[in-house]
Amino acid sequence: MRTLIKNGTVVTAIDTYPGDVLVEDEKIVQLGVSIDVPADKVIDAKDRLVVPGGIDVHTHLDMPFGGTRSVDDFETGTRAAACGGTTCIVDFAIQDHGHTLREGWETWMGRAQDKATIDYGFHMILREYNESIGKEMGKMVDEGVTSFKLFMAYPGVFYMDDGSIFRAMQRSGEIGATICMHAENGLVIDVLIEQALAKGHTSPKYHALTRPPQAEAEATHRAIALAEMADVPVYIVHLSSAEALHEITTARDRGLPAFAETCPQYLFLSYDNYEEPGFEGAKYVMSPPLRDKAKQKDLWRGLAGNDLQVISTDHCPFCFDEGKQLGKDDFSQIPNGAPGIENRMSLVYDGGVRKGYISVNRWVELTSTSPAKIFGLFPKKGTIAPGSDADIVIFDPEARTTISASTHRMNVDYSAYEGRKIQGVTETVLSRGDVILEKGNFTGRPGRGNYVKRGTR
Ligand code: URP
Ligand code: ZN
Ligand code: ZN
Repeated sequence: MRTLIKNGTVVTAIDTYPGDVLVEDEKIVQLGVSIDVPADKVIDAKDRLVVPGGIDVHTHLDMPFGGTRSVDDFETGTRAAACGGTTCIVDFAIQDHGHTLREGWETWMGRAQDKATIDYGFHMILREYNESIGKEMGKMVDEGVTSFKLFMAYPGVFYMDDGSIFRAMQRSGEIGATICMHAENGLVIDVLIEQALAKGHTSPKYHALTRPPQAEAEATHRAIALAEMADVPVYIVHLSSAEALHEITTARDRGLPAFAETCPQYLFLSYDNYEEPGFEGAKYVMSPPLRDKAKQKDLWRGLAGNDLQVISTDHCPFCFDEGKQLGKDDFSQIPNGAPGIENRMSLVYDGGVRKGYISVNRWVELTSTSPAKIFGLFPKKGTIAPGSDADIVIFDPEARTTISASTHRMNVDYSAYEGRKIQGVTETVLSRGDVILEKGNFTGRPGRGNYVKRGTR
């Protein structure tokens, strides 16, 4: 099967040029100013950007959490991802206390296998560390799970003490894996939560007020110091605050392999959302919480200057009418997480490229190339080059739309960006050569997505 994409503007992390792209079966085989060969399908990309498919390296599909379960499974979640221009995700498989890593990985593989419409990989969340888990980490790397997420937050759920974190880091260093860290000081946060509740402070905004930026910055500093001693790269997930970013910048200035992602919610939403009337603030309860609007420009500076390398979503949707209501009388019971898998590419294009914070090439880099490089997917994914998977997005930079729960494809009853007008829309998507979105109509099939074995550093 030959597909020829003609007349578009090809954009990669480094180049922007008018050109054609030839796809044969699952791969890109040729790029050129004008390719004239017979093809089974010709796609006219005039006035469109032709970019590598988005890679979202932080999603939580079908995940039990906070007394409930995230409401997008691998079918609805990956369909929404594809409609928004994302062609590969790296989700989180979870190890249960007293169970093996393989059991956790196989459980998540089972959830994804017949449902995913795009390619997927897994990080592994470790809940504990011991010698046998250390041995298994090596086996997981052989299966393509080459990054492990650890938590300094959520005592009693995912929290790990510094000694266990340090041992897991040392082991990751030995086997070429990367540590992903949820960096918030969970023990201090729990004290603040207890004190807030004792004063009768139960509404959603206290979620943010009990998770101050210092709790994130302190944990980020500690994570970097532990990683330096353990001689392993550390990747701070969902970085939200300028204070935590300062820790990353300082470490990188010292030449340490410290990396971080931020997410659209920290760039486009803010603490003010928690002040919305009634229980509306629960829609934005996530950890770390949304921060002051005035500090968002620090994150944009970090993104432009490469102190932040990735924009992922941390897509973890709970319905407002059911899941979020668990915390109606106690903010600490509101399930943590928000939807966003469908909106990332357009939000960042509109609010980042169009607003002049980042170039169009940096947009591609932050949402595709750089996550592919950091997490062992490059050059199979993350660029438009001969030999790479034909994961391609044809993006209309002029089209406008309004984000709304009434039209989005995510399986969740609200949008954190309800009513936001954006310019820049994903029009057509190829996943390994298959057209899975054609002029806005989803044409993919559950189960067509492949598990991707990721490489080590
Ligand atoms: O609030 C969040 N971020 N929920 C998802 C779980 C996590 O910590 O990433
Ligand atoms: Zn986290
Ligand atoms: Zn997460």
